[in-house]
Amino acid sequence: MKYDKEIKLTQFSPGAGWACKLSANDLTQVLSKLNNSSLNDKSIGFDSFDDCSIYRINNKQSIIQTVDFFTPIVDDPYLFGQIAATNSLSDIYAMGGTPLFALNIVAFPTEKLDLNILSVILQGGIDKCKMAKINILGGHSIKDDVPKYGLAVTGIIDNDKIIKNNTAKVGDDIIITKPIGSGIISTAIKKELANDTLINDTIEIMNTLNDNSSKIMMKYNINACTDITGYGLLGHINEMCRGSNLSANINYNKVPKIETIEDFAKKDIIPGGSKNNLEFLINKIYFSNEFKNYQKYILADSQTSGGLLISCPKEHSENLLDELNENLQFKSSIIGEFKEKEHFNIFCSH
Ligand code: CO
Ligand code: CO
Ligand code: CO
Repeated sequence: MKYDKEIKLTQFSPGAGWACKLSANDLTQVLSKLNNSSLNDKSIGFDSFDDCSIYRINNKQSIIQTVDFFTPIVDDPYLFGQIAATNSLSDIYAMGGTPLFALNIVAFPTEKLDLNILSVILQGGIDKCKMAKINILGGHSIKDDVPKYGLAVTGIIDNDKIIKNNTAKVGDDIIITKPIGSGIISTAIKKELANDTLINDTIEIMNTLNDNSSKIMMKYNINACTDITGYGLLGHINEMCRGSNLSANINYNKVPKIETIEDFAKKDIIPGGSKNNLEFLINKIYFSNEFKNYQKYILADSQTSGGLLISCPKEHSENLLDELNENLQFKSSIIGEFKEKEHFNIFCSH
């Protein structure tokens, strides 16, 4: 497919990928005004901030449904399509489910950009879905000044295997399956400060499905899981704490990070979304004295298509970690643990 390779898709994007999402603050405000009493026990609505909605179809199985889309996170349209699809599928894997099919969500500036670029974006989505062994069965597109792409994904899961984000237990180890930092690096890419190796490494992280990590975690008796996306590592741990009525200890040094992330964060190359994340959580987190501001932003950094955050009983966590590390491309780590509820939701130390 021919198109002008000089076109930089991210220049059409006001916020880098997930950084374009509504802040947790704004979203909470909007949702709090809704009357949604029709939610019944068949579904998990947005009040638990769970990854997918669940609809029980019979005594054995449930449909799980999720939708995600965002503005260009990279300049290459094919990679943008792939990353958007990877990110959209992630919620299904976080719940331990199997994707069934997907629908496209497309916004595109037909007057400003070559239609071939859109074809390439959609091809990226199709090819990623093939890797996930599903088809894209249709979708919906509109004209818009800012390109946007993503998927609504439908999946299936056995009722007794549903993994939620609000069922962590005291003493569980917290395992993360991908390094963090894609928000900060995406901002560095947009400012043309990142070299090719760093760009490729970051794309590789965002473009890797969580299917294998999900398959492996489902072999162990884990208690809870979520995927790390826009609200960052701290935001997603906070949700797990809130939902499970627990607190957590996190060790900064044990959190896997994209190399050189600290150099950028020190220079305040941090997306607005990541700053919002920290601001929203600041009263819920205790940072030990040695914490520098840039380190707080790193932990709060908005991720695009991040890894899984698994809450695993201590007795299986080393085995799960070993199996993840024998089979996956990125290093998984135990970064902390859940404990009885205290005044702060999260305690961060070095
Ligand atoms: Co999610
Ligand atoms: Co989602
Ligand atoms: Co339509």
